[in-house]
Amino acid sequence: MCAKVARVSAEGSSESEMKHLLEAGRILREGGTVVFPTETVYGLGANALSPDAARKIYLAKGRPSDNPLIVHISRVDMLYDIAEDIGSDALMLMDAFWPGPLTMIFRKKDIVPLATTGGLDTVAVRMPGHKAALKLIEAAGVPVAAPSANISGRPSITSSRYVLDEFADSVDMIIIGENSEIGIESTVVDMTEEVPVVLRPGKISQNDIFDVISQGDSAKREFLDKKLYEITGNHCERPARSPGMKYRHYSPKARVIVEEPGRSALEIMKEYLELLSEDGKHVYEDGDIMVFCIEENAPLYGDHAYILGEDSSEIARNLFTSLRMMDDMGVKLIISEFFSGDELACAVMNRLVKASSNI
Ligand code: TXA
Ligand code: MG
Repeated sequence: MCAKVARVSAEGSSESEMKHLLEAGRILREGGTVVFPTETVYGLGANALSPDAARKIYLAKGRPSDNPLIVHISRVDMLYDIAEDIGSDALMLMDAFWPGPLTMIFRKKDIVPLATTGGLDTVAVRMPGHKAALKLIEAAGVPVAAPSANISGRPSITSSRYVLDEFADSVDMIIIGENSEIGIESTVVDMTEEVPVVLRPGKISQNDIFDVISQGDSAKREFLDKKLYEITGNHCERPARSPGMKYRHYSPKARVIVEEPGRSALEIMKEYLELLSEDGKHVYEDGDIMVFCIEENAPLYGDHAYILGEDSSEIARNLFTSLRMMDDMGVKLIISEFFSGDELACAVMNRLVKASSNI
């Protein structure tokens, strides 16, 4: 198979762009697969209501079939077709964050096949905040299941430069858009618990979610925090409730090491630059090691500095493309600073720590 390729801007509003989106929509409706841009990362879409179409996604990605897909919708009424028990908290969150980078998990209706939900009786739903993506779903006329458009285990794709690398031979159509504005995947929040629980961190944080549903009522806020603690307890010991969290993720070819308290990126860099093999040769040459850092620390690492950005938005936007660029450059070891400061930085660290370990 050789994918049809079309370029579409974020708006997707010109006549020729609309033509491409209508064609991609028809492919989805008829059971085919389409790679398309969203504001978080690129997605690999198929008709969420067709088990055969969903299976094509797992096949193209090499993804384990128990890892459920996110279903993308373009209008709120599509949510009522596929999900049950949509409570008032969900309505407030939709109002505040849709269209946008928030995925909510509900009990599924029978119309959603188990092939889409990885065998679960729940369904993850998101209305993307990317105009061309919304037009594509609208053109499809069906909800669109779409995981991130990367081979399973590899870094997500956020740059038009990498869109053609992995799926040109295995999907029906690829829509090349602009680089993803946010750069890390949506926040996944479980709405089936007594209070919403974030399973995968993203731009929208657990705090943002509680702020919206407590509506400034401090007693309600206290109740939410208490319940959250009862449900999640000690985060570190909690088993993976989102099936995707147990798999190896985001991994470039290079090894990734994240600095820790007591072992700074600079110390790690020096240690590996001095590392000798049995025959007395350096294991790593100069160009083999790069350090992901913020701009102000770059002078510390000399030629090894690779600036991810100045603030967490920029770091998030550059993260996945930078991991892929390190592979292009033949880098063998990526050492990363620990980015902190706000909840988006935590979401970035969640990805980097996963990239650094072999789960
Ligand atoms: O930003 C995004 O969410 C992107 C774009 C394309 O929209 N999509 C994305 O999909 O990141 P994916 O498949 O790479 O990640 C989906 C995550 C996985 O960790 C999966 O396990 C979890 O959501 N998930 C999906 N359905 C679930 C469910 N019913 N219960 C628990 N976790 C679920
Ligand atoms: Mg993914």
